[in-house]
Amino acid sequence: MKKYLFVCLGNICRSPAAHGIMEKMAREKGIAECVDVDSAGTYGGHSGELPDTRMREAASKRGYDLTHRARQFTRADFERFDHIIVMDDSNYERVCRLAPDMQSLSKVERMTDYCTRFDIDHVPDPYYQGQSGFEYVLDILEDAVSNLIERTAE
Ligand code: 4NP
Repeated sequence: MKKYLFVCLGNICRSPAAHGIMEKMAREKGIAECVDVDSAGTYGGHSGELPDTRMREAASKRGYDLTHRARQFTRADFERFDHIIVMDDSNYERVCRLAPDMQSLSKVERMTDYCTRFDIDHVPDPYYQGQSGFEYVLDILEDAVSNLIERTAE
């Protein structure tokens, strides 16, 4: 069993989408029992909320049902997860600052390092963007998660 935590700022747009995509792709690949998936935000202001309506609608059209309730990332997540996958530099810095030791630090990865169709270094925050921003985020996440799943299934 490999344990994955996706992290963004609010845990209502990017990371719950990555979470839902990973769960669906893992089911389709027949490895759902081999992965434990969760998501969290570095900012706790949206804790308890469902994902942003714009993201839920865009994801739903692609077959992803996003029902995660937002929660804040905590230091204890370093013990629970094998891979802590962040969306941008700000997430990376905030998560790394909480790492209690080098082994924990080595668990922190960037989502875009798994991309093969996009030559980018962060998943842009869609919160203040229009609907096209949400579609673009989903395109990036589908690319990254499909490669992550291939890696997991090896
Ligand atoms: P996320 O998007 O980090 O992808 O969940 C955001 C959600 C909320 C805020 C910013 C980004 N906010 O400022 O409240």
